[in-house]
Amino acid sequence: MYVYKYYPQYEESMALCEFENIFHEPYEKYFFTDYDYDYKRSVFIKERLTIFKESNDPKEIIAYLNDAHLYYENFKVIFYKNDEVHVPYEERLSLCHRLSEPIAGTTKLHEPDVELAITKLNNIYYFGLLERNRDWHRYEVKPHSYSHSLPLKVARCALNLGVGNDISQSIIDPCCGVGTVVLEGLAMGLNIRGSDINRWVSYKARLNLEHFGYDPLLIEKKDIHDIKEQYDLCILDVPYGVYSNCSVDDQLLLINATKSFCKRLVVITHENYKERIASLGFVIRNQCMYKRGNFARYITLCEVEK
Ligand SMILES: C[S@@+](CC[C@H](N)C(=O)[O-])C[C@H]1O[C@@H](n2cnc3c(N)ncnc32)[C@H](O)[C@@H]1O
Repeated sequence: MYVYKYYPQYEESMALCEFENIFHEPYEKYFFTDYDYDYKRSVFIKERLTIFKESNDPKEIIAYLNDAHLYYENFKVIFYKNDEVHVPYEERLSLCHRLSEPIAGTTKLHEPDVELAITKLNNIYYFGLLERNRDWHRYEVKPHSYSHSLPLKVARCALNLGVGNDISQSIIDPCCGVGTVVLEGLAMGLNIRGSDINRWVSYKARLNLEHFGYDPLLIEKKDIHDIKEQYDLCILDVPYGVYSNCSVDDQLLLINATKSFCKRLVVITHENYKERIASLGFVIRNQCMYKRGNFARYITLCEVEK
């Protein structure tokens, strides 16, 4: 069971788009599937419960535990509260107590190494291993920042939208700035590199990668028009005209330039360029947006028309 959580006002579009792209099923906050997804790639999946046993009668779960001979060091059994079913406090407490008894090993109530959890949804109790997605923002604070940098959530959403379930793809961020997308991609285990025309900025990106233990040479100082290697996917966060003089036509030129080295593109723009991008010969496959106050970004997945 994967648990999705997001801020509805400004993240809903990204969360739903990412969900659809990964699971190809209608969205559910508590989503049950056999698909083993690397949930740490997502910023919206906050927990995963790997279910060992489900039943409408908790006694059956206890019977399962009596037979299963589970052993854990420093574990704790918790009741995982959800938004749909309220179970009274005494019942929750007694349930956790009864479930932990048959499990061998040592318990640790504060900061346990292993969390086992029970929850109740649609009159069924689910028991299993609970994992929390806590450190997806470990590269939030970089030694070298940039006023144009993307929020991490947008960077990860763009990457997830682009790679879907195929993480073997080769990826380029040809306008990488200080390397936000590249760092997030590396943290997600992706095969990604970056380049930027600006010497100072690309140098800062190298230092950022080095700081977090990655190969700084994954970043090059390069004009997008000089990229010769072929990639499966391009993530392009286009420059825009707030601090730099990048007109809409200039931005479209950069988008068009990606065609020479990649057939699949996730482009991040500050306005919705869907029609303009399509007029360049791309087929729009998906789009979502992030808006918080005056800050808006459109994240568009497109492919070069065959
Ligand atoms: C919006 S910023 C990217 C920010 C980046 N995603 C980050 O989070 O740090 C756009 C970048 O495009 C770069 N750029 C502009 N024209 C370029 C070109 N022709 N080739 C490569 N990079 C270019 C700029 O130097 C700038 O760093």
